[in-house]
Amino acid sequence: MTALDAVSIITTKRDGGELSDAQIDWVIDGFTRGEVADEQMSALAMAIVWRGMTRSETARWTSAMIASGQRMDFTDLPRPTVDKHSTGGVGDKITLPLAPLVAACGAAVPQLSGRGLGHTGGTLDKLEAIPGWQADVAVPRMRDILADPGIGAVVCAAGADLAPADKRLYALRDVTGTVESIPLIASSIMSKKIAEGTAALVLDVKVGSGAFLKTLDGARELATAMVELGTDAGVRTVALLTAMDTPLGRAAGNALEVAESVEVLAGGGPADVVELTLTLAREMVALAGLEIDPADVLADGKAMDHWRAMVRAQGGEPDAPLPIAKHTETVRAESDGVLTRLDALGVGLAAWRLGAGRARQGDPVQFGAGVEMHAKPGDSVSAGQPMLTMHTDTPAAFAGASAALRAAVTVEAAATPSPAPLVLGRIGA
Ligand code: URA
Repeated sequence: MTALDAVSIITTKRDGGELSDAQIDWVIDGFTRGEVADEQMSALAMAIVWRGMTRSETARWTSAMIASGQRMDFTDLPRPTVDKHSTGGVGDKITLPLAPLVAACGAAVPQLSGRGLGHTGGTLDKLEAIPGWQADVAVPRMRDILADPGIGAVVCAAGADLAPADKRLYALRDVTGTVESIPLIASSIMSKKIAEGTAALVLDVKVGSGAFLKTLDGARELATAMVELGTDAGVRTVALLTAMDTPLGRAAGNALEVAESVEVLAGGGPADVVELTLTLAREMVALAGLEIDPADVLADGKAMDHWRAMVRAQGGEPDAPLPIAKHTETVRAESDGVLTRLDALGVGLAAWRLGAGRARQGDPVQFGAGVEMHAKPGDSVSAGQPMLTMHTDTPAAFAGASAALRAAVTVEAAATPSPAPLVLGRIGA
């Protein structure tokens, strides 16, 4: 047996040992090149789920995944780079107003983003609802957009060369029950964000029914691991823990969320979306070393100018009508009272069943599909009043979606709910 072989690495971790730097580098490199078999990597991932990894193992694992591809470098840009990553939630369209807002504040925002899977939507799916908009941007063009003081933000698909080890490993974890491991999740997310070349990063770690992590303790653990990885790699990193028991805003679905984001950029939009956009923007601007209040930049229309320029730079037409679903159906309140619960997971499932999301990678999405929310927790409703509107091109989906929505709402006769805070914690310098 040689010093480095897959079986001894698996058994070391299986028995609770700590992997050496050399073992980690070897196994990630071998897996990327197809020399460590999928079944061996699956066994190792399961051993990590079971035994965990130390801070230094996780840092080395992350570096090895970054080294499996290209690390981008934007240090020569004339403005500071800063990005945001959300762990995903229902109605989470925050990147859409946030990226142009932070660019309008004077930073460059290089965001490599993903498509949605399951009940949470993907930022690229939302932007692709804009006629003409293209997710693929070559690196030299990305650099030009970021350097342009009238644009400064690019949200695009990650190229095949960005942390390819993570791409392969995440696909394997998805089908082997090995996603749920804090070190594996933290290293997966942070390898992509560090490789993207941003100098600073704000993480929005969602907590609640519609989030990947259901408990505050779990979210805090993940956030801490990611902040440590970013900091150790020289990326100034802060994490906010934010609530995801109720969907963000009043729309879940691709084109519906673009329309709501444009409302925010125009100075309106739902209060929670505005609050979270400004809170994250203030963190990003501070990490970028800029002294400007994003609220002023939102109010004076500059963020909207950057949005329009950013959409055009990727082939989109900001004034083109957005796709509209062919069919709508309404869910009405069954009694008088106060809406005390609008469950994010239920709304996400309904939007997904209506066609806004995909079950498997590569499936198409319906851009017009989704759920509009006419009432949010704390609002009074009367029997028969429309609470939710479902949008789809496939009316057979209404039955399953309305069942999910009916289970997602609670109306109480005499309730005085106290507003739940949106920001639940902050980790980082
Ligand atoms: N998102 C990622 O990119 N990786 C994970 O492991 C989980 C969520």
